[in-house]
Amino acid sequence: MSLQKITTKKLIEKKQKGEKIVTITSYDYSFAKIVDNSLFDLILVGDSLSMVMLGYKNPLPVTMDEMIHHTKAVNRGVSNALVVGDMPFLSYKVNIKEAVKNAGRFIQEGGAEAVKVEGGTEICPMIKAMINADIQVMGHIGLTPQAIYRFGGFLVQGKTMEAAKKLIMDAINLQNAGVFSIVLEGIPWQISKLITSVLNIPTIGIGAGPYCDGQILVIHDMLGIFTEFKPKFLKYFGNIGKAIRNALKEYKNEVESGDYPGLEHSYEFPKENLNEIKNWFENTDIKEEAFLLKENSKLK
Ligand code: KIV
Repeated sequence: MSLQKITTKKLIEKKQKGEKIVTITSYDYSFAKIVDNSLFDLILVGDSLSMVMLGYKNPLPVTMDEMIHHTKAVNRGVSNALVVGDMPFLSYKVNIKEAVKNAGRFIQEGGAEAVKVEGGTEICPMIKAMINADIQVMGHIGLTPQAIYRFGGFLVQGKTMEAAKKLIMDAINLQNAGVFSIVLEGIPWQISKLITSVLNIPTIGIGAGPYCDGQILVIHDMLGIFTEFKPKFLKYFGNIGKAIRNALKEYKNEVESGDYPGLEHSYEFPKENLNEIKNWFENTDIKEEAFLLKENSKLK
């Protein structure tokens, strides 16, 4: 079966056909390759890498250069899914010129096919400028983690009448600005259902309930590898974190007990030379030979 490369157009068609869109984050070659072979539609190189890969306490410290470095690695592992680079804090809200330049780096240097930006109506001018420069853009509204200090923490958004209306209008304005999809994060499911029903482009939910056109999770979260906090929406699939911890314990025990490595994991010296090396070893002043070797290599 030959696979058809996922494009932004195909994602919009999936919404029209009522087919769910399955997406996830990845930050390196090996994980991206596994995800791509599992036939996911879209891989986001999320700025969540700031926490799950680099150990910062929130997404704000990660830089453009670090994001590009990881996007390149992901891109090398992917041949089918759409690769989206997540624009980090302050890389697109300072001014339009910077926004287009930084978005362009994801495409030109990172090999991404699109970028994602957090924000509503206020960033439509930046989005339009990127699209005019032939860069595909994904929106992201609701609990946008780059604004945690404004929100006062990782708090569910859109719970008042005013906030819910603003989310709905932001979604429509982002669609009108030309985004191909919008991530809805940390908002009541009833509001994401309304947004999904009013848009022609797909919504991708995370903590936004079951009525979005697709879902996304941070791969280290859903595999149970990053366990520093567990929001209500998160479900562990497979609990690979536990499996990794058990595997490491087993390896440590076997090294300590001498069970690993066995001779079955070891390389053989050619049988015909075995006596010769043993004789040489027993009848030579090895320390003197090593000294002479060192002296000779100095002369060269
Ligand atoms: O940074 C990220 O991983 C994200 C997703 C959770 C949507 O923005």
